[in-house]
Amino acid sequence: MSAAAKTFYMETFGCQMNAHDSEKVIGTLEHEGYVRVQDEEAAELILYNTCSIRDKAEQKVFHRLNEYKRMQGEGKQFAVLGCVAQQEGEKIFEKAPFVSLVSGSASYRNLPEMLVRLEAGEKRITGLDDRRTQDATFDTEFTTRSNPHRGYITIIEGCDKFCSYCVVPYTRGKERSRASDSIMAEAQRMASLGYTDIQLLGQNVNSYRDPLGQRTFAQVLESIGVLHGVRRVRFTTSHPRDFTPDIIEVIDRMPTVCDHVHLPVQSGSSAVLKAMQREYTREWYLERIGWIKAAKRDISMTTDIIVGFPGETEEDFEMTMSLLDEVGYDAVYAFQYSQRPNTPAVGMPDTVPDDVKSSRLQRLMDAQRERQRIAYERHMGQVMDVMVEGYNSQRGQITGRSSQNKTVNFTTTQPILPALGSYQQVKITRSFPNSLVGEAVLAG
Ligand code: SAH
Ligand code: SF4
Ligand code: F3S
Repeated sequence: MSAAAKTFYMETFGCQMNAHDSEKVIGTLEHEGYVRVQDEEAAELILYNTCSIRDKAEQKVFHRLNEYKRMQGEGKQFAVLGCVAQQEGEKIFEKAPFVSLVSGSASYRNLPEMLVRLEAGEKRITGLDDRRTQDATFDTEFTTRSNPHRGYITIIEGCDKFCSYCVVPYTRGKERSRASDSIMAEAQRMASLGYTDIQLLGQNVNSYRDPLGQRTFAQVLESIGVLHGVRRVRFTTSHPRDFTPDIIEVIDRMPTVCDHVHLPVQSGSSAVLKAMQREYTREWYLERIGWIKAAKRDISMTTDIIVGFPGETEEDFEMTMSLLDEVGYDAVYAFQYSQRPNTPAVGMPDTVPDDVKSSRLQRLMDAQRERQRIAYERHMGQVMDVMVEGYNSQRGQITGRSSQNKTVNFTTTQPILPALGSYQQVKITRSFPNSLVGEAVLAG
C-alpha cells in the first residue's frame, strides 16, 4: 500500500443491484490502493451510490448532497454514482459544484481511469455512456462482499423493456448478459471461499441470454446449484414475460435452488397493464402463477404492485385486490405511482389524486397483511433448514432465514449458540404475518 493511501467512504441507496454495484466499486477502489473508512468525516473521498426509482428516492439524494456541502471546505472530494447520476448527468455539477465525478452504472468499468483523473485534480469527470454502452458488463474480480456467507452475482445488467412508468432503461442502460463461464468462475470462487448462499441478480434476471450460447437461465441455476459447498441459489427479479416452465422444473429437481419466485405483477387489471406497457395480461400472468402452483415443492411467491397509475379506476384497483386472493402471495411490495422524468407515462391523462393513491395503498397493505397472517400459518409444525444470520440478545433469539427467504427467529437448548452462516433445523411453533418462530431441533 502506498504511503499516500487515500481514504474513502461509500454510501448506498436503492435496490440489491445498487448494493452489489457498491461492493464492486469498493473492491475496485481497494485494488487501486484506497482505504475504506466507516466514518464520512475521516474520508478524503465520499462516494454516493444513488437511486431514482421514485421521486422520494431522488429527493433524498439532493437533500444528502446539501448536507455534504458543509464538508466541502475540508478538502474532500465527492463522487455521485448510480441511477440519479446517470439521469441528471452534468446537471449535478450545477446543483452541487463541489462534486468532481458523476457516473452511471453502465460506465463503472472505466472507474480506474476516472480515479486517475480525480487524483490529478480534474473537476468535472463524467461516466455517462448510458444506452450507448454496447458490450461488457461490470465483472470485476475485486468485489468486496459485506457478508461472508451470502453473496450476490450480477448475471444481467440494464433493461430494454421500457415499461411506461420506469426510469431503469434510461439509468442502467441496455440489457447486457454476462457470459456464463464468467458467472460460473465467480460462483466457483465464492463457493471455495465458503459462501453457501448465492443470489443471482438482474433487473430481469430471467431475461438472461448467454452471449456464449452455452446455458439457459435455468441451466445457470442448475450449474451453480451443483457446486460443492453451495446450499442455496436464489434469483431476483423475475419478469413475467420471460418466465418459462424450465425454471420451475429446476426448482423441483434441485433442493439447492430456492423455492421462492419474486414475480412483479404491477397491476391486476389488464387495461392498466396495457397502459404500463408490461406486454402481458392478467390471464397471462395467472397462467405462470398456475405453473408455479403446480410444482411439487411449495414455492413461495412474492410481487411488486404500483397503485394509482394514471387512469387506474376503482374497478381496476379492485382487480388488483382480487389478485391477492387468487395468487396467495407471501409478500407484496406496494408503491404509489410516482411520475418519473423522461418516461412515457409523464404525458398520460387521468392522474389519480394523491389521497386516492394513498388510501388504495393502505387498503392493499391491510388486505395483504391479513392474507399473509393466514399464509404463514401453513408452516406451523414444519421443520425448516434455517441459515443463522444474527442474534437478538434482548429477546434471547437467534435470527435466520429459510430457503423461501422467510425470517425465522428461534431458540435452542444448547449452551453454545450456533455460528453465523451455519444451517440449523428449526421446528416452527408460532407464525406472524412477516416472520416465523421456532425451536432448534437437535441432531442425534
Ligand atoms: N425489473 C423489475 C422491477 C424493478 S423496479 C420488474 O420489471 O418487475 C422495482 C419496483 O419499483 C417495480 O417492480 C415497481 O413496482 C416499482 N416502480 C418502478 N417505477 C415506479 C414508479 N415510477 N412509481 C412507483 N413505483 C415504481
Ligand atoms: Fe423497469 Fe419495466 Fe425494466 Fe422492470 S422491466 S426495470 S419495471 S422498465
Ligand atoms: Fe433504484 Fe436504480 Fe435500483 S433506480 S431501484 S437503484 S436500478
